Amino acid sequence: MELSNLGAVVGELSHLSPERESAGYHKRMHPMNPAERLRDYPVTTTCIGGVAEFEHTQPWIYGLDNPYLHGVYAPTTQELSESGLRVEGELPRDLLGTYFRNGPNPIHQPENRYHPFDGDGMVHAVSFCEGDAAYRNRYIETIALREERRAGRSMSNGVMGPFDFNTSPFGIKDTSNTDLFYYAGGLMTLWYNAGHPYRLNPQTLETEGYFELQGRSHRRLSAHSKVDWATGELLFFDYGDEPPYMTYGLANSAGELVHEVEIDLPGPRLPHDIGFTPNYTILHDLPFFHDPNVLARHRMRVLTFHRDIPTRFGLIPRYGAGDDVRWFECEPCYILHVSNCWEAGDWVVMDGCRSINPMPSAAGGEGELSHMLAYMRLEANNYRWRFNLRTGEVREGDIDDLNTEFNKTNPLYAGVKSRYAYHQRIPLLEEGGHTLRFTGLVKYDNDTGSCQQWDYGEGVYGSEAVYAPRAGATRDNAEDDGYVITLVTDTRDWTSQSLVFDARDITRGPVARVFLPQRVPFGFHASWAPGI
Ligand SMILES: [Fe+2]
Repeated sequence: MELSNLGAVVGELSHLSPERESAGYHKRMHPMNPAERLRDYPVTTTCIGGVAEFEHTQPWIYGLDNPYLHGVYAPTTQELSESGLRVEGELPRDLLGTYFRNGPNPIHQPENRYHPFDGDGMVHAVSFCEGDAAYRNRYIETIALREERRAGRSMSNGVMGPFDFNTSPFGIKDTSNTDLFYYAGGLMTLWYNAGHPYRLNPQTLETEGYFELQGRSHRRLSAHSKVDWATGELLFFDYGDEPPYMTYGLANSAGELVHEVEIDLPGPRLPHDIGFTPNYTILHDLPFFHDPNVLARHRMRVLTFHRDIPTRFGLIPRYGAGDDVRWFECEPCYILHVSNCWEAGDWVVMDGCRSINPMPSAAGGEGELSHMLAYMRLEANNYRWRFNLRTGEVREGDIDDLNTEFNKTNPLYAGVKSRYAYHQRIPLLEEGGHTLRFTGLVKYDNDTGSCQQWDYGEGVYGSEAVYAPRAGATRDNAEDDGYVITLVTDTRDWTSQSLVFDARDITRGPVARVFLPQRVPFGFHASWAPGI
């Protein structure tokens, strides 16, 4: 998630007050009596599942009163590989491939306030083959994690700062815990903040090192760079605090750089995603960003949502030059995830989830975590933008107002007209959504705005769902003639399952439940790799 708003940032300058300093705010925290700590910052009382005692977790979590370290968010310490998993229902014989999911799984006690983007990345994989299912999970062995393993402790601050550019080129720890997808024979894992992508063996999940693009001199790459299944190309972007504030490029299906250009932006930005059609890539310039002078002075990124600055979407020909970008101004908003884009005559259409309140007010009473908890409460809804390439006109509007995000579509239809999107239902604060949680699957018909819903059930929380085409399917198959796969954790008995739905009708519930051999903590993004 990140959810840039989720991740990006964060903090109030008041956190830097002398009172905070003298109170030991920047001191390393040591394991302590949990009861004593909970008295200071009683926010875990609203944590999903409470502060459960787990057999396989990091013991230091019980000394920290941060809901994103407990209950459904508590890290696991087990790395497992098991096949022949128990299945309830029947796994389709034409479901062939792997559901991969990334997410935070912190190993060492943080130096400072913990944010979910700081947790060491861990990949969980559920593979499906001829009616059988197998599970594997492994840490992403990043450079930062290897250094911390050697030292036996956390070595750098996290998203909530303060930033220290002596310890990392990013000032904070690149955990590679946010996004992932299969590309050029490897599994690429990415961090929300345009870190260095890692390459994992898709069968063993062994970390093989940085995912280098041949011919590219710098490694930085943003989460939600994406593969066009029609061509095998990687369309990528990155962003940073120094000019060029954004670059955009392509690599071919063999992992070789074929195109890269600088994008002129008015300052540092925190875009989170891109969209693409066969001929255009849609870049995001969103009015939710930090002041670089504040970063330089206080070593923190303090995000502001500028309600008076339009959102801009830049349409660049797939192999276009930097000055070929054509910008379209829209209502101010933040956007995390694009569902799909396509061309329709003079128009380019983009469906996605829009937020007009990316920095909700803190609920209060949550101590030093108030702001992090507030902006992790994701407020967004299904939305459509249309850009007229001939006249420059923009049309935009809600598809629906239900609070949803982590939207995915059939990847075979990426870049061409699609109708269906699969979202996660996210309760608002007033609906019990104190922390980010996925309570159900929503299948949208974006042509009509109607939807099907499947609630995971009381105390059961989901992961991002992916669309898995039937083995051998093409665009000649109906768009929803396939499967939707997610991963859920039941906080009543702390078991986890992978659920397989018939995409045509999710209201029937899963056609198969795969029982996983361990509790899987909450995570961020997932993807489907066919035949892997
Ligand atoms: Fe994301």
